[in-house]
Amino acid sequence: MTTYKTDVLNEADLGGALRLSMEAGWNQTCEDWRRLLDLSPQGCLGVRVEGSLVATASVMVYGGDLAWVGMVLVDESFRGRGLGKLVFLSALKRAHVMGARIIGLDATEMGRPMYLKEGFRDVGLIERWTGRLAVTEPFPRCEGTVSSLTGDELESVLLLDRQACGCDRSQLLRRLFAEPEVRAWIWRKADDESPQGFAFVRPGREFKHLGPVVATGKAGFDGLLHHIGRTLPGTPVLADVLHGQELGSSLKPLGMNVQRQLIRKAQPWRPDLLAGPQVWLGAGFEWG
Ligand SMILES: CC(C)(COP(=O)(O)OP(=O)(O)OC[C@H]1O[C@@H](n2cnc3c(N)ncnc32)[C@H](O)[C@@H]1OP(=O)(O)O)[C@@H](O)C(=O)NCCC(=O)NCCS
Repeated sequence: MTTYKTDVLNEADLGGALRLSMEAGWNQTCEDWRRLLDLSPQGCLGVRVEGSLVATASVMVYGGDLAWVGMVLVDESFRGRGLGKLVFLSALKRAHVMGARIIGLDATEMGRPMYLKEGFRDVGLIERWTGRLAVTEPFPRCEGTVSSLTGDELESVLLLDRQACGCDRSQLLRRLFAEPEVRAWIWRKADDESPQGFAFVRPGREFKHLGPVVATGKAGFDGLLHHIGRTLPGTPVLADVLHGQELGSSLKPLGMNVQRQLIRKAQPWRPDLLAGPQVWLGAGFEWG
């Protein structure tokens, strides 16, 4: 019987990793994999067979004791041989070594049975919306002003994010802000106030990824979306709505519809994992 071994990924694995996520029809680009590798070099794991990457998993530890597991992928021709379980259990072990006590993930239908067996419980539904941006009327009423995020405002955005989702995603947000292809905006209720909301849009293989989006009120969410719809008309975009929030009245007028659903899971169970009333759109299945 073949014995497989999990290793830490490196730069040379980026092509193989992208091949696996493309085979599964996922939206990540090489830059998405590179970001994971740069931000969590010890958390990117894989199994190689005769030099080819055939399985992957990623772990990102957010300051404190929360880790996020993502990119659990097995080459189609190697499925059903225990590789998914091997790489997933290695990711859990790595998360604990990195100091995590709470582990979250967004599960596809294919991955769900494996996670259930390892004691992960359902936290809530994630709806992935996709569409080609077009602002059609009627759009919800927008208040305040939206402008591009500048370096001077980054610290306020990081604080806002920590308060909204209850953990420290500053490494991820700083990195996104620094990437030339990523766009980010802030929302202010009034001109003299500090930012009360923000949105990021990053490139993707088929769709640009709209998220994370955080705002202290629905008016801010709508203001950001309206601005993005007007700024990037015709752009194919995806967005992840957390925990069954009713955002159809904002997303449908932008030309978006539900494409698929995933289940957010946690071990031990936590209802508010990287979510909360001010977190409108998630950062992506590999980031939470
Ligand atoms: C999900 C995935 C990683 C599983 O990989 P795999 O190598 O086939 O999984 P394993 O052979 O290690 O099986 C792991 C366990 O899950 C079970 N399992 C796997 N797929 C299953 C399915 N479709 N239905 C029911 N059980 C399933 C296996 O029986 C096994 O249970 P056991 O340990 O009690 O024997 C793989 O199918 C895949 O890459 N899918 C596409 C990407 C994806 O959806 N990833 C999950 C992201 S959340």
